[in-house]
Amino acid sequence: MILLDGKLTSEKIKEEIKIQVQEIVKYGGRPPHLAAVLVGNDGASLTYVGSKVRSCEKVGFKSTLIHLDENISEEELISEINKLNDNKKIDGYIVQLPLPKHINEEKILMMVNPEKDVDGFHPFNFGKMAQNMDSFIPATPYGIIELIDRYGIETEGKNTVVIGRSNIVGRPISILMSNKSKPGNSTVTLVHSRTPNISSFTKKADIVIVALGIPNFLKSDMIKKDSVVIDVGITRVEDKTKVRGYKIVGDVDFKSVKNKVSHITPVPGGVGPMTIAMLLKNTLKARKK
Ligand code: GUN
Repeated sequence: MILLDGKLTSEKIKEEIKIQVQEIVKYGGRPPHLAAVLVGNDGASLTYVGSKVRSCEKVGFKSTLIHLDENISEEELISEINKLNDNKKIDGYIVQLPLPKHINEEKILMMVNPEKDVDGFHPFNFGKMAQNMDSFIPATPYGIIELIDRYGIETEGKNTVVIGRSNIVGRPISILMSNKSKPGNSTVTLVHSRTPNISSFTKKADIVIVALGIPNFLKSDMIKKDSVVIDVGITRVEDKTKVRGYKIVGDVDFKSVKNKVSHITPVPGGVGPMTIAMLLKNTLKARKK
């Protein structure tokens, strides 16, 4: 069994990005600048955004955190978005999701200038991705593709089963895996919460990508021997033995599944760190444009 080490791979990617930033600066250019909009104080979102900002510093980017009150009105948030769209010194920005219930997420994401949409959530970028055109690819699926690529996993002609149909992971990764590209060229089945007998699909899969948000969902009796398993789950589960009071649990029952697979991502240390690295990669791309 080969562990797909997202932590190590993401460190390598960040090193590569850092060298490119140094080149830009050496020739008198401005370093890339990423902004993050965070509304409210959701614990997980605070952690993710903090991590994204720290990673920016590591690679020599400039970063700005726009932390807004939970009760901000939709109009006020739109005004902040417009400021970011107009700010020539900001190359890319993200609006951390989820947003509070009183704000229409779809409306906000539509306001993001597609040229600064380093999360790749705007339908303009999503549509381009779906047509295999150059675009900003959402960081998590992009991270999965990069991990598969760097570990030399063959995807062409393979049966890939994606579990979950979110706009952030399931849907885009299913498109990328079927695109005419490398990695890609896979025969993809997208299953979800309304699919009866998910096992009947996963048992036939060469590659299983789980993005469901249900801890330990995928068990060893649901997969084929020597398959590749990618775990996108990051659920916080109470753990009183930890100082922070919780542990991060994936969607795969790692203990049993690991003995049956050819490759598997751990949680934590798999897809999670790759997401941040790919966000930085998208920001560097925005800066170069
Ligand atoms: N919430 C969970 N994942 C993500 C992500 O990749 N980007 C943003 N903006 N919000 C998220």
